[in-house]
Amino acid sequence: MSDERMERLRERIGRIGYGGDYNPEQWPEDVWTDDARLMRAAGVSMVSVGIFGWAVVEPKPRAFDFTVFDKVLDVLADADVSACLATMTASPPPWLAARHPETLPTRADGTRLWPGGRQHYCPSSPIYRDHAVRLVEEVANRYGDHPSLALWHIGNEYGCHVAACYCDVSAASFRDWLRARYGDVETLNDAWSTAFWSQHYASFDEVQPPRTAPTFPNPAQQLDYARFSSDELLDCFRAEKEVLRRRTPDVPVTTNFVPFFEPPGKSLDLFAWAPQLDVVSYDSYPNPHDPEAAVRAALGYDTMRGLRDGEPWLLLEQAPSAVNWRPVNGPKPPGVMSLWSWQAVAHGADAVMFFQWRQSRGGAEKFHSAMVPHGGEDTRVFREVRELGQSLAAAPALVGSIPRRADVAIVLDWSNWWAFELDSHPCSPERLIDVLHAHYAPLYDAGVACDIVPPTADLSAYRLVVVPNLYLVDQAAAANIAAYVEGGGTLLMSCFSGIVDGSDRIHLGGYPAPFRQLLGLRVEEFWPLAEGDSVRLVGDLTGDAATWSEDIRLEGADVVASFATGELAGGPAVTQHEFGRGTAYYVGTRPDPSTMRRLLDRARLTAEVDPVLPELPEQVYARVRETPGGVAYTILLNHGPTEVSVPLPSPMRDALIDGPPSDAVRLAPRGVAVLVAD
Ligand code: GLA
Repeated sequence: MSDERMERLRERIGRIGYGGDYNPEQWPEDVWTDDARLMRAAGVSMVSVGIFGWAVVEPKPRAFDFTVFDKVLDVLADADVSACLATMTASPPPWLAARHPETLPTRADGTRLWPGGRQHYCPSSPIYRDHAVRLVEEVANRYGDHPSLALWHIGNEYGCHVAACYCDVSAASFRDWLRARYGDVETLNDAWSTAFWSQHYASFDEVQPPRTAPTFPNPAQQLDYARFSSDELLDCFRAEKEVLRRRTPDVPVTTNFVPFFEPPGKSLDLFAWAPQLDVVSYDSYPNPHDPEAAVRAALGYDTMRGLRDGEPWLLLEQAPSAVNWRPVNGPKPPGVMSLWSWQAVAHGADAVMFFQWRQSRGGAEKFHSAMVPHGGEDTRVFREVRELGQSLAAAPALVGSIPRRADVAIVLDWSNWWAFELDSHPCSPERLIDVLHAHYAPLYDAGVACDIVPPTADLSAYRLVVVPNLYLVDQAAAANIAAYVEGGGTLLMSCFSGIVDGSDRIHLGGYPAPFRQLLGLRVEEFWPLAEGDSVRLVGDLTGDAATWSEDIRLEGADVVASFATGELAGGPAVTQHEFGRGTAYYVGTRPDPSTMRRLLDRARLTAEVDPVLPELPEQVYARVRETPGGVAYTILLNHGPTEVSVPLPSPMRDALIDGPPSDAVRLAPRGVAVLVAD
C-alpha cells in the first residue's frame, strides 16, 4: 500500500520534487501572488505548508478559522504547485500553555521550558495529544480532498528541541512503559543492576526518570529513558497518522528527521520510526565552513537511504545559503547549493527542498537564508535557485530510480549509540557520530559507496561490513555478524565493541565475549590515552593513533600492527583473523585518518571492493541510480575548485545538457553531470 501511495506521488510530481517550506501566514496576501509567480519561474513543484500554522487556524480553543490556508492552497493549486501539507501540530499556540501549563516540557534538572520559542510541549501530555489530534482531524477534513494536497507532513523535526521531557506526566508514562517492557519490578531490578548503590525498587511506583542526581544516574535507566522518549514521540506521530489514514488512505505521510550531526540527531531510533512512514524525509544543514561538510552530508544521506532498506528519500529541508543558528553562519559560495543538492540526489533523494521559500521579515530566523532572499529575485541566491530548478527538471527519469546497492555496509544501531555515549565510561568524550565518520570518510574519499544497516540486517550480499564501536550488542546481532564472516564475508570491527548487553550489563567471559571467537583474541584491559597523547603503530600497517588503546591477547588472530610506543609497546593494535570462510579485522585503537584509509584499503583488497568508477580525479565523486527498467544513471559531482576531465568506461551522454555521447566528460568547478549510456 505504501508503494502505491508513493507511486501516485511520483506520478503527480513527475520529476525530482523541488521547493521549500512555505510560510505565507507571515506575509500579506499580495505577496502570495508574487510567490506563485516566482515559484513558477523557479520550477517549484512542491512546498511544505502550514508547519507553524496552529495559532492561525485555531486562534482560540475549538474556534477554527481556515481562511488563510483555504486561500493559500488555492493559490498553490492554480500555480500547479503541490502541497506537502503539515498537520500544524509542531508548535502549540500560547493559549494551550496558558490554560494547561502542565503541557510544558521539563528538563532533567527541573527547569520548565516556556512558550515563546517553539516545540514547547511534553510528548507524553494527554492534553497536548488530544488537542493535536483534534486539530489534525480538522485539517484532514478540511483539506483531504484539496487538489493541491500531495503528501502529509506530520509534526516537524520530532525531538529537535525537546528530545525528552522529565515532568511528572512523563514519569507516569515511563512507569507504564517499564511495566509493559519488564512485566514485574524484579525483572527491572535485574536489568537495571539495582543491587548497585542501594537502588533496588520495591514497586514501579518508586521509579523516576533519570533526573539530575548527585552523581551518575543508573546507566540502564538512562538507556531505557532514551528508548522511552523515542517511543513517546513516535506515539505522538502515530496518533496523528491514524487520523490521516482514516480520512485520506491514499495520501502518503512523512515527517522530517533532524540533521544527523547536530546534537539532537541521535534522539530518535530511526530504524524503529522509518517503517511507520511512507517515505523517509531528512533535513540536512552541512556547514559551509567545515571542510568535511560534504562527507558528513553523504553519511547522513546514506543513513536515510538505509532506514527503509535502500529506498529513495526526500531532502525536505536544507539552506539555500547561510543558516542563522551556528555561532558563525557562512553562506554557501556560488555553485555549492546546486552541487550539494545533486549530491543528495546521487545518494537517493527524490526531492530537493529548502528552509524556506521567502526569507522572514521578523522573528528568530530573519537572518536564515531563503530561496527568495530579502533582496528579492535580483539576487545571486534566487538566480541559483532558478538554475537548479531547471537542471533538476532536466532528468525526470531519476525519480523512483534506486541507488545501486553498495558492496560495503556500515553498521549503526541507536541503542548502541545511546549506550556508547553514556557517562562513567573509560573514555567519555567520544561521540559515536565522530567514530562513524572516521570509518566512513576513508571509504567516501576512496570513491566507494556504502550502505548503512542495522546489526540484524541480512549482510550476506555485502563484500565488506564495517562495525564501528558496537559497544552494546545482543546475542542475536552478534551471531548475525559472526555468521556473515563464517560464510565468507570480510569484517572490520573497531575497539570497545561487544562489551554490554541490551541493559548495559557486561558480557562476561572476557572482552569482547560475543566476538572473541570471531576475532580470535581477548581484550584484557582498556587503556585510553591522555588528551593530546598518541601512539605509534608498526608492522604491516604503520601510522599513528590516539584516544584509545587496549591490552589485547591473541587467541588465533594475526597481528597487522603493533603498538611501538607507550605502555602497551609490543602488544597487538590491529589484528586479522580467518574465521570460517571469511576474515575479521579488529582495530584496538583509533588510527589517524591516513592510517585508517590504508587499513580500509587493505580490508577492501581482501574483500575485492572497487570504487564506483575507476580513475576519478581528486574530489570528484560518483554514485549510480538505476530505474526499474534497468537504465543506469551515473551522477558525477566535482567538489573541487578546478575544471576536470573525467574518463568514462564507455561512451555516455549527459542528461543535463543533452549533448552527444562521449568517452570523457568535462566538469566545471562544483559542476555536475548526470550520465547515461547511449
Ligand atoms: C529546522 C526547522 C525549520 C527551520 C530550520 C532552520 O530544520 O525544521 O523550521 O527552523 O531548522 O535551519
